[in-house]
Amino acid sequence: MWSSRWLFVLAAAGSAVGLGNIWKFPYITGENGGGAFVLIYLACVALIGVPIMMAEVLIGREGRQSPINTMRLMVQQHRASPAWVLIGWMGVLAGFLILSYYTVVAGWALNYIWQMASGRFVDVSGPEAGAIFDTFLASPWQLLFWHTLFMMATIYIVARGVLKGLEAAIRWFMPLLFVLLFVLVGYAVTTDGFAQGFEFMFAFHWEDVTANTVLIALGQAFFTLSLGMGAIMAYGAYVPSNASIAGTVGIIALLDTLVAIGAGLAIFPIVFANGLEPGQGPGLMFVTIPLAFGQMPLGVLFGTVFFVLVSFAAITSAISLSEPALAYLVEEYNAKRARVAVSFGVLSWFLGIGSVLSFNAWADLHFLGERTFFDTVDHISQNVMLPLGGMLIALFAGWVLPRTVVGAQLGLQRAWTNVLWKILCGVLAPLGVLAVFAGSLLG
Ligand code: PFF
Repeated sequence: MWSSRWLFVLAAAGSAVGLGNIWKFPYITGENGGGAFVLIYLACVALIGVPIMMAEVLIGREGRQSPINTMRLMVQQHRASPAWVLIGWMGVLAGFLILSYYTVVAGWALNYIWQMASGRFVDVSGPEAGAIFDTFLASPWQLLFWHTLFMMATIYIVARGVLKGLEAAIRWFMPLLFVLLFVLVGYAVTTDGFAQGFEFMFAFHWEDVTANTVLIALGQAFFTLSLGMGAIMAYGAYVPSNASIAGTVGIIALLDTLVAIGAGLAIFPIVFANGLEPGQGPGLMFVTIPLAFGQMPLGVLFGTVFFVLVSFAAITSAISLSEPALAYLVEEYNAKRARVAVSFGVLSWFLGIGSVLSFNAWADLHFLGERTFFDTVDHISQNVMLPLGGMLIALFAGWVLPRTVVGAQLGLQRAWTNVLWKILCGVLAPLGVLAVFAGSLLG
């Protein structure tokens, strides 16, 4: 059990705030044209993400086991179809897939601690910053080295148990990350690209919206909140019974959104002030942020600290990616945590080699249309499996779990709150996901 509600907030926020906010959100916003994407994303977080996160926490706290066994228990207790347990299995698979490329990108951040500390970016120009990153990506051995290092660090922490070490990390690093993002946004405000960056992020143009934009925004909402794969359900299993689920989830979603918007507000002005491309893809943060620190007084120090913090944010998320699988294996087979952690990590590391090669040797190898191996694994997990998992979780919490169970978990005392929950979680959230899927299939 978490020793308090706050510890759960920290752990869940640690899972939610990660590369999804700082690296991914700005780059897919750039690739999808800015404002329209951001606003649809915010709507997805509020209308679909928050209810589904509540559903995950409530199911987790009701079952108090790993997601797979929690679903088994729920199915037995409420005489539902055993097919619902698939939610748990799909989550394990999604976590495995995401971890495989997450550690590749987190490895880039690890490398950048070192790059920043050595002063490599002091006073470089936009194109020079881009070239440093491109040279790095072109070397499979370097990427493999950092991918391996990051995976080893993740497995080490996971093997020791989530709470030890993690707590201190989250307690200190999350607030620091906020402060540094604040500094970066402050710097961005002083550049002459701020107005343009702001406009790029928040000006809504209907003509930019396609079914695919909405699918990507929805996938990002799930990814950034760690939803749809049981990570939050697994953490929810340890939430004290008297903590308010709605309040807690609201705080987590708000923190997560603030970090993403802060990252965007830091990055896009720098893009425009330096004549860079907003749609340049996965390298966006690794070019703009070092560039900004390179121009700032004390930039070497701040820049180094920034990438340390990003690495910590990434590791607290990476840990939660493996939790549904490990919790299940430990529970079911009475296995040693360290042993299953190593096996899971090694397999995922191996798959990650495909993502490493996507940026160099396999750059021209395409799957599912124009996608590299990295993009394919990313797309299937983030844009298909997470929304599908989330939709099933919402349907389960909305229609299968009895009202008494949900009401007691959420503290719903009035008739209208019950109705509101039914509408949000049982109808709107699943329909929203379904509509987005249908729209993107029809093109
Ligand atoms: N929410 C994490 C991020 O934004 O970086 C990524 C993530 C972690 C997704 C855990 C899913 C998950 F279960």
